[in-house]
Amino acid sequence: MSTLLHAHHISKSYGDVSVLKDISLEVETGEFVAITGPSGSGKSTLLHILGGLDAADAGTLLFEGAPYPATSRDIDIFRNQSLGFVFQFHHLLPEFTALENLCMPGWIAGRKDMEARARHWAKALGVDHRLDHLPGALSGGEQQRVAVARALVHDPKLLLADEPSGNLDSQRSSELFDILHEVRRHSNVAMIVATHATEWAEKADRSLHLSDGAWRI
Ligand SMILES: Nc1ncnc2c1ncn2[C@@H]1O[C@H](COP(=O)(O)OP(=O)(O)OP(=O)(O)O)[C@@H](O)[C@H]1O
Ligand SMILES: [Mg+2]
Repeated sequence: MSTLLHAHHISKSYGDVSVLKDISLEVETGEFVAITGPSGSGKSTLLHILGGLDAADAGTLLFEGAPYPATSRDIDIFRNQSLGFVFQFHHLLPEFTALENLCMPGWIAGRKDMEARARHWAKALGVDHRLDHLPGALSGGEQQRVAVARALVHDPKLLLADEPSGNLDSQRSSELFDILHEVRRHSNVAMIVATHATEWAEKADRSLHLSDGAWRI
């Protein structure tokens, strides 16, 4: 195992509210890390910073030993190549089929092999039989699995997921966990998942608890 992500002494405030207080985290290649904590404890803020979507006020971020890119253009490239994102609500484009949703980011980037990749990941997530449907014709669990396939379709090294099962019932949540676990076994993608689901926290390789912007031991 090698260290994929180093976050050292990350702090973040909004105005005079200190949201993250000297947070450090290391994630290994292929590791599945769950982050739990009460509402407002800073989980989403931390994921946004790790994902280069927001800047920390202090601290260092290294990916495969190299500092995160300094310019927003280079951050965009890094994010598009190396990271995948899943959110609580799937954010699929309603007027495009599941297949088109999976291919769209790659098509925009000018990639030619998207359809084969999309079909591969749809199969891995168990939604390959639903590819010709619009998102509105899929169940909530299927929509979320398409969203996860979309986050993985470019083979990221790190998947960042913010409450991916927050909108699913406990059975669908459990199914989604099992699928991600299986995906991780086959692809070696690391996953950092903010979750309220105790089952996810218990089954992850490692579970960390945020409390008021600091790790609670
Ligand atoms: N853009 C912002 N401007 C001001 N305050 C913010 C901003 N984003 C987050 N905060 C504050 O930072 C704190 C942490 O928010 P964050 O969304 O990271 O919590 P969370 O742990 O993800 O909560 P939840 O479980 O409800 O999603 C909260 O007090 C929130 O109000
Ligand atoms: Mg949140």
